[in-house]
Amino acid sequence: LKEKAILEINEADSTAILEKARIHYLGKKGELTEILRGMGSLSAEERPLIGKIANIVRENIEIALEEAKKSIKIKELEKKLQSEAIDVTMPGKEIKVGKRHPLTQAMDDLKNIFISMGFKVAEGPEVETVYYNFDALNAPKNHPSRDVSDTFYINESTILRTQTSPVQVRVMEKNEPPIRIVSLGRCFRNDTPDATHSPMFHQIEGLVVDKGITMGDLKGTLDVFAKNFFGPNTQIKFRPHNFPFTEPSAEVDATCFKCGGEGCSVCKGNGWIEVLGAGMVHPNVLRNCGIDPEVYSGFAFGMGIDRLTMQKYGIDDIRLLFENDMRFINQF
Ligand code: PHE
Repeated sequence: LKEKAILEINEADSTAILEKARIHYLGKKGELTEILRGMGSLSAEERPLIGKIANIVRENIEIALEEAKKSIKIKELEKKLQSEAIDVTMPGKEIKVGKRHPLTQAMDDLKNIFISMGFKVAEGPEVETVYYNFDALNAPKNHPSRDVSDTFYINESTILRTQTSPVQVRVMEKNEPPIRIVSLGRCFRNDTPDATHSPMFHQIEGLVVDKGITMGDLKGTLDVFAKNFFGPNTQIKFRPHNFPFTEPSAEVDATCFKCGGEGCSVCKGNGWIEVLGAGMVHPNVLRNCGIDPEVYSGFAFGMGIDRLTMQKYGIDDIRLLFENDMRFINQF
């Protein structure tokens, strides 16, 4: 029995088989246990003799079990180490480093420039009501921009905002002057995509309302912006224009010498490029938001961030901004 047991134990090559062997010999119903149990039927002389032998056998089996257990543990550990070994000579995986999108860079720059002038950043919804996008902004009921050919309608009273100007109204409704905010975000217009149009684009809106705000404040603010964003030699000029929500209104051009000024794809024409719309907040808009135009005045401006980005980085097709081709993004 002893030899059979020890042979079996030494041949075991896993802890599971070893445990099976232990139960088979030493367990409650094990072979050796049965023998010990059967000792009652032996004579008084035989009993101590057989008992002694049985105990020695048990001890031997136990020692063999213990040793087999140790060596199996070592073997199992070796196996595990082998299977988990790392081949340091294998070629590594290439980890591609991302890059901030030029639009994101421009938006971060814009925020920093206006924050440094004391503006706070406000946000508004992209799915907007006709009221906030048009009515409260003094847009006449027959204004062409309200047409379905220009604006994406969700239903009669809900649209995708066509500009960031509705954020002005939301901010003025909720806050007493002095107000000084910029708001950046996506806007949507029903335009066919080409090099300069995208149905989804980005604007930044600026709004300042306080006592005694003048067009001079607007000009000064935009001048600081242009010099910080495009470079210290940049100049701006105002051209008369018309927006329903500002009076007087202006379009603002900046000098553009990116590629020699004239005739290139980024700086068309005469070395000036249109960068934004602006003006003094219309008294009707102030009144719509519960602000007394006799006490307060304000200026507002709005610009297309995509076009600013294109001008700053010399990008000649707006669609490149939305293709997420790393070969393009890595250049900025
Ligand atoms: N919302 C105007 C546009 O999209 C820009 C603008 C904003 C003009 C604020 C004046 C004041 O064209």
